[in-house]
Amino acid sequence: MSVSFTSTYLMTNEELALPVGITLDRFIMRNQEAFPFASGELSQLLRDIALAGKIINREINRAGLIDITGQMGSQNVQGEVQQKLDVIANIRFIRALKNGGEACAIISEEETEVILPGNNHGKYVVAIDPLDGSSNIDTNVSIGTIFSIYRRKTPVGTVPTSIDFLQKGREQIAAGYILYGSSTIFVYTTGKGVNGFTYDNSLGEYFLSHPQMQVSKSGKIFSCNEGNLFDFPQAIQQYIESCKRKNYAGRYIGSLVADFHRNLLKGGIYLYPPTEKTPSGKLRLLYECFPLAFIAEQAGGKATDGVQAILDIVPTDLHQRAPLYIGSQEMVDEVTQ
Ligand code: AHG
Ligand code: MN
Ligand code: MN
Repeated sequence: MSVSFTSTYLMTNEELALPVGITLDRFIMRNQEAFPFASGELSQLLRDIALAGKIINREINRAGLIDITGQMGSQNVQGEVQQKLDVIANIRFIRALKNGGEACAIISEEETEVILPGNNHGKYVVAIDPLDGSSNIDTNVSIGTIFSIYRRKTPVGTVPTSIDFLQKGREQIAAGYILYGSSTIFVYTTGKGVNGFTYDNSLGEYFLSHPQMQVSKSGKIFSCNEGNLFDFPQAIQQYIESCKRKNYAGRYIGSLVADFHRNLLKGGIYLYPPTEKTPSGKLRLLYECFPLAFIAEQAGGKATDGVQAILDIVPTDLHQRAPLYIGSQEMVDEVTQ
């Protein structure tokens, strides 16, 4: 008996002519070719981070089956309880950066001091939040990784110091995040726009899925922990109320990466204001606020601490905190007024 398929879908000539999705590796290489004197170290560094992201992605996907959920029984430098996955992600990223050999120094949310991989000839330093959204790990809610890359300040060949990290956010040469969500996406900028690459598990590759990301000038989403509302400064309380009067959607995942990413795609504002308990806010300047502020500005959005642009803050401490208002330009302007 012969079977005939009457509804077989044939690709159009236009579809057949489309290039195969560009991989992250190829995209990074192409960008490097645009700089005649680039040595390839930054490209390699980005690839190292992307690779560690694949490993974390694998671990996260198995969480629940293997023993990586729950608390570690220890605290980090901020006095926060460490989850097992915080520690695992920290080890994975530091190891990937050490093996890669391009970073001469690393700071991490999970480590008090500057980490020295022993490569004093490296040009770059990396600040990292290995696992963002720790409180969501055990409940299958989206979490992420955030990173920021600087050219070192101390002379190449010497031992790097904290000076290499205490640079304005504007000095970043690259920044990005990986969101382990309904799919995993690697989003980064080197100061020439923002691009997003979705991870294909079956192929083990990230493919360009979100070229030249732009955030809309305004939006209809506000994201903050409203449980702290009465501790927010009066003006911020009023702003939240005005969002509600306009029937904006309140959306708060509790993983900065996930909240930021959604607002980047849909338009909106994320707020973590100062409170009495946390007068400088909760978020860490070097490995949470700076990298996301760089991405926000590159995507046409804005980020401030309520007084000045996040990227203009000169840090004095590796783990210092800052209030954060980030997202669509007009919304950030409104809240700071
Ligand atoms: P981390 O898990 O890296 O410590 O970061 C947690 C941060 C951020 O991801 C999130 O937006 C915020 O803490 C949530 O704080 P609240 O629980 O106070 O809302
Ligand atoms: Mn974090
Ligand atoms: Mn973290």
